[in-house]
Amino acid sequence: MQLSAEIFTPGELKRIAAAVYQHCGINLHEGKQELIQARLTKLLRRSSFASLSDYLDHALANPDSDEFSELIDSLSTNLTSFFRESDHFDYLARAFLPQLLARRRAAGSNCIRGWSAASSTGEEPYSIAMTVQHALEAAGGTWDALILATDISTRVLKIAREGSYDPQRVEPVPPQFKTKYLAKARGPHPFVQVVPKIRSMVRFAHLNLLEPWPFVGPIDFIFCRNVMIYFDKPTQQKLITRLWEILGPGGMLFTGHSESLTGIAHKFRYVQPTIYQKT
Ligand SMILES: C[S@@+](CC[C@H](N)C(=O)[O-])C[C@H]1O[C@@H](n2cnc3c(N)ncnc32)[C@H](O)[C@@H]1O
Repeated sequence: MQLSAEIFTPGELKRIAAAVYQHCGINLHEGKQELIQARLTKLLRRSSFASLSDYLDHALANPDSDEFSELIDSLSTNLTSFFRESDHFDYLARAFLPQLLARRRAAGSNCIRGWSAASSTGEEPYSIAMTVQHALEAAGGTWDALILATDISTRVLKIAREGSYDPQRVEPVPPQFKTKYLAKARGPHPFVQVVPKIRSMVRFAHLNLLEPWPFVGPIDFIFCRNVMIYFDKPTQQKLITRLWEILGPGGMLFTGHSESLTGIAHKFRYVQPTIYQKT
């Protein structure tokens, strides 16, 4: 189907923005209209629907359809990288994990639970898993460590589960982790794959953060980074309250570097910028 940007009427743009906001909290305010037009025009060119209104009628009435999933995907950004915002991983390795492992040992438990709440293509949960595995090896003993990794986009989850990346993408991985936790992927391409030990520590699942969560806490630490920026304040407020509830006592919350909790009512202890603790 050949579509040009002019066929997006203000009514259609409003309809798309309202459905996206209602379904996943992404706030496509008026300034985002060009983005909607550009990204949806591309998407619609590839679709088999006869008109834009047919496409919207189908996608917006069926939030579980592939079309709706593609629509959300094309309007959100999945930008991520290994060890992005590296001070979070430093804090995890140097301050939090040694204390957590000592506490668990003293309590006769070996269970460690982390959550990457908007995991995108997997670089974040794998960076967490490498950091945790390194700490477990240093501590010795047998541990039951699991990193839950969720995202609303089925497309990014597919890439994440594969755990294979272009060599350029793994450049930020610290050298001592590269040798232990990355290997050449099978096949003719020059891809690098996260080793099975690290991959098996990460459980990927589809989850819309605005909907009920099909798991219970307590979780030891949550990375909820660079997703709240797309939500408005009331949506952020609800999410922060739910994240606090699912964390265990002493649990940590890491937010993206442009996502402070300023203006949000919460009970977290401020540790350092974008790092918070449930006390
Ligand atoms: C910019 S990426 C952030 C990735 C990673 N956390 C990081 O900081 O590098 C934002 C991710 O949030 C996901 N997302 C957007 N809305 C969501 C929602 N309502 N529930 C779950 N994930 C969502 C997108 O699919 C995207 O993969």
